[in-house]
Amino acid sequence: SGSSAKPSLKVLLCSPRGFCAGVVRAIDSVEQALKIYGPPVYVRHEIVHNRYVVESLRAKGAIFVEELAEVPEGTKAPVIFSAHGVPKSVPDEAAGRNLFALDATCPLVTKVHREAEIHYKRGREIVLIGHAGHPEVIGTMGQLPAGAVSLIETLDDADRFAPRDAASLAYVTQTTLSVQDTAAIVERLRQRFPAIVGPHKEDICYATTNRQEAVQRVAPIVDAMIVVGAPNSSNSQRLREVAERAGCAHAALVQRAADIDWGAFGNIARLGITAGASAPEILVEEIIDAFAARYDVSVETVSAAEEGVFFPLPRALRENQAAE
Ligand code: F3S
Repeated sequence: SGSSAKPSLKVLLCSPRGFCAGVVRAIDSVEQALKIYGPPVYVRHEIVHNRYVVESLRAKGAIFVEELAEVPEGTKAPVIFSAHGVPKSVPDEAAGRNLFALDATCPLVTKVHREAEIHYKRGREIVLIGHAGHPEVIGTMGQLPAGAVSLIETLDDADRFAPRDAASLAYVTQTTLSVQDTAAIVERLRQRFPAIVGPHKEDICYATTNRQEAVQRVAPIVDAMIVVGAPNSSNSQRLREVAERAGCAHAALVQRAADIDWGAFGNIARLGITAGASAPEILVEEIIDAFAARYDVSVETVSAAEEGVFFPLPRALRENQAAE
C-alpha cells in the first residue's frame, strides 16, 4: 500500500523550457499597465498564446479583443498589442482614433519587421517562411504593402515559388519555426535562387532554438513526452513535432493536467517534459503533480543551454514605473 505500490517514473525535465524573454515582457506590460492606469486595460489578441495566462490577466482587469474596432470610442484606457506583433494598419488605426497604444511586440519579432522593411527599400522581393494565419505572419506581412511579401510554408512551396526577379530576392522567417524544417526550406531556396539574401543570424529566436535543442536531447531517451502549451502556440506545436521526429513514440501537447490522456501514459518508465515559450511553470508543476499521484516520480533536469535574455518594458511603462 501507499507510495511503495506505485510504479516508478523518471521525469526528464527539458531546460530551457517555458517562458521566453518576449513573453515575460508582454505579460509584465499588461500587469504594469493595470498597476499604473488601473483597469480596464485593452489587449489586442491573446497577449501570449496561453489560456491560463489570459484568464489570470482577465481576472485582474484586462479586456481581450481581436480587433481595435471592439475598443470603445473615446476611451483613455491603454490598448496593448500582443507579443506576436501587428500589421502596420493597427498602430495607424490606433493613432487615427487617438487611442493610447502600448506595443508589447517581442523585440525579436520587431527585428524581423525591420529586416523586411530594409529589403523592401532595397527593391527586393521578399519571401516569408512561416505558417499561414498565425498572428506573427499576419503582422510581418502587414509591415509592407500587399504583394510585397510571399508566404512559403513548405518545401513544395519553395519548389513552386516563381519570383519576379531571382537576382533581387530576400527571405525572412517566423521566429517560432522548426529549426530543421526551416534549414531545409532555406537550402532549397538557395539552390534555386543563389542570389537570395537572408538574415545575418537566423530569424528563429534563441528561445525557439534552445527549447527545440533540449527536446532533441531528451526525446530519444524517454518512452513518452509532454509539451505543456496551447494548440494555437506555434513554438509549442513545433516542440511536439521535434520530439516525435527525434524518436519519441508518443508526444502530446497538453494545456493542463486535466487534459492528459492517461491511457497513453499508462505504461511508461521515463517521461520527458517541456513547455512552450508561453506556458507558465506553474502548469509544468501541475502536470508533474498529476504524474506523482500515479507514479513514484523522480525528476532530473537535462540542460541544453543557459539563457540570460531580458527585454526592458515598453518606454511609456518604464518611465511611469520609475515615477511610481
Ligand atoms: Fe520573442 Fe522568441 Fe519569445 S520571438 S516572444 S523570444 S518565442
